Amino acid sequence: MGFRIMGTGRAVPANAVSNDDIAKFVDTSDEWISQRTGIKNRYISTGETLNDLAKEASEKAMEMAHVTADSIDLIIVGTLSPDRIYPSAACELQANIGAVNAIAFDINAACSGFLFALQIANGYFATGGAKRALLVGAEILSKMTDWTDRGTCVLFGDGAGACIVDYDKDAVVTFSSGSDGTKGDALYCNNRPINNPFLKNESSLDHTHMDGQEVFKFAVKTVPRAIEDAMEKAGVTAQDVDVFLLHQANLRIIEAVAKRLKSPMEKFPLIMSEFGNMSAACVPILLDTQIRNGTVQRGMQTVMAGFGAGLTWCAAVFVY
Ligand code: ACO
Repeated sequence: MGFRIMGTGRAVPANAVSNDDIAKFVDTSDEWISQRTGIKNRYISTGETLNDLAKEASEKAMEMAHVTADSIDLIIVGTLSPDRIYPSAACELQANIGAVNAIAFDINAACSGFLFALQIANGYFATGGAKRALLVGAEILSKMTDWTDRGTCVLFGDGAGACIVDYDKDAVVTFSSGSDGTKGDALYCNNRPINNPFLKNESSLDHTHMDGQEVFKFAVKTVPRAIEDAMEKAGVTAQDVDVFLLHQANLRIIEAVAKRLKSPMEKFPLIMSEFGNMSAACVPILLDTQIRNGTVQRGMQTVMAGFGAGLTWCAAVFVY
């Protein structure tokens, strides 16, 4: 029992920002950013909203899948940067695309958001709650980035990836996921402070804080373990896997995971060079680029993995 991916789509803002562009306002260089992260470019919104991008990506996914919006019965948006605190981005997307028959809600599992959404959708499929899901990872990270902090502002980009997923009773899909809230301070952004007639606070908006080395250590330890666990449940080894689609936090994390899994880097497609780290949007955008360029083809044994703030992680093993 599992799912089949029917169509994918992506959307990014029009404004491409190179490392040299960033070096104009913080003390950094293309060389430092490229060598430490693998990132050379990212797209930063100059007006596109999260729901603009989510709608465009979803419409492309529906087009590839040859399905109409009214056939979708579940929409989950993985995001930590919705346009509104409420209602959810998923409900707004539902209205924007006319998915009148869908249940719609957001989840916040940071960079694991798309994978968590996939696992939740699989649970809906298993219990008869849905047969067709639209899953979206979408972020406008630039609005919570501290653009004076060279340690973080070079890493992030904005974007949305979408995927139409259908219930398939014959598919074999396994997951391995988890969370460690004790490490929450490794990567966080506070919400608006409590402010009311009984407690006065200076109203200020927070930005992303990151302990890069803590996140790095977590990722290289936890991600291979989660992938190995999901592969074991599926009865496959790393040698059987055709393609590993990993969250594009940075090149060195992916190289370390590949080494741990004793798998060649050729099996790990990379897009961080063009898009940067778009949190929940990374994995679905990676999936879309690799389907459209022919790297991911029907019948391929596929691994997807997300990991990030929370801390959270999730790996999935399935046949595309
Ligand atoms: N340009 C130039 N110098 C910089 C920059 C920059 N953009 N950023 C930091 N530096 C400097 C620091 O100030 C420091 O200088 P100092 O030695 O004079 O004090 C030096 O570079 C080393 O700084 P570190 O923070 O120790 O750099 P590190 O080698 O750890 O690399 C990085 C930083 C790339 C963030 C690394 O920790 C990493 O890859 N972490 C993983 C975290 C990650 O990928 N986060 C993304 C979000 S989380 C996620 O998606 C899972």
